[in-house]
Amino acid sequence: METAAPQDAARALLAFWRAAGVDMDEAEAVFAAKAASASPARSAAAPSPLAREPFQIQPPTPKPKPKAKLQPADDAVNTARALAAGASSIAELRAAVDKFNGCALKATARNTVFADGIDAAPVLILGEAPGKDEDEQGKPFVGRPGQMLDKMLAAIGLDRQSNVLISNTIYWRPPGNRDPTDGETLSCLPFVERLIELSRPKLLILTGKAAAQTVLKRDDGVMKLRGRKLQYTLEGIKAPVNAMVMLHPAYLLRQPQQKRLAWADLLLAEAWLEELGVARGAHP
Ligand code: URA
Repeated sequence: METAAPQDAARALLAFWRAAGVDMDEAEAVFAAKAASASPARSAAAPSPLAREPFQIQPPTPKPKPKAKLQPADDAVNTARALAAGASSIAELRAAVDKFNGCALKATARNTVFADGIDAAPVLILGEAPGKDEDEQGKPFVGRPGQMLDKMLAAIGLDRQSNVLISNTIYWRPPGNRDPTDGETLSCLPFVERLIELSRPKLLILTGKAAAQTVLKRDDGVMKLRGRKLQYTLEGIKAPVNAMVMLHPAYLLRQPQQKRLAWADLLLAEAWLEELGVARGAHP
């Protein structure tokens, strides 16, 4: 029986895990670096003593990795842009996200998780990515952090049945809840931007660092961004959108002592909505 060279077997394994949706960027970089450092010695003028060995292991051909890696992502981003631009309502955008196959996470997810709430809501809330419960139910923020978010919103008269639309910056659950890769995030971004454009919220609330950095295209941490009145601008959007950053409810579940900051964020949102004349429900 023929056996694969170790490098080929390793390469096949890396490809297998990547296809399964696992972030292999780091492992592939280590593999490529080892391959590159192994090859100059072999290609030196004097033939390697191994060259005479009958079972010589061939030095791996260095891969033009960065380009090869960026190409599919570029294609995915272009496809996403075209699909997003073609949607003229939130319902059409949902259908466009559903049929998009350019994000590798879709292969391992059970459901596409797009949005929940009222399409014409004055408040749009964006989180990061679906977790296990969201993946099972196909709705954003339905697990423990979601229940916490609902309670926080109720405290200022907001809810999914009357005045809020909730979505994420990633539409498929990353395996094991790992962080999404840059490529995965970029492939979903055209839909996220189109959602903001189509819903034109009176207030955009970004929960947590990932959503804040992705949407605002800033490297600042959430502690720097929260508690401030921000403006979201995008080419194509006529007027800037009022935006603010809040601590993510999952973070608050891990760090309950930070709830006082979350409360301050909610008070800021409430005051701003009041100023903007946004109708809210009765609340305690
Ligand atoms: N966390 C998020 O950011 N989004 C969800 O939908 C659920 C948990």
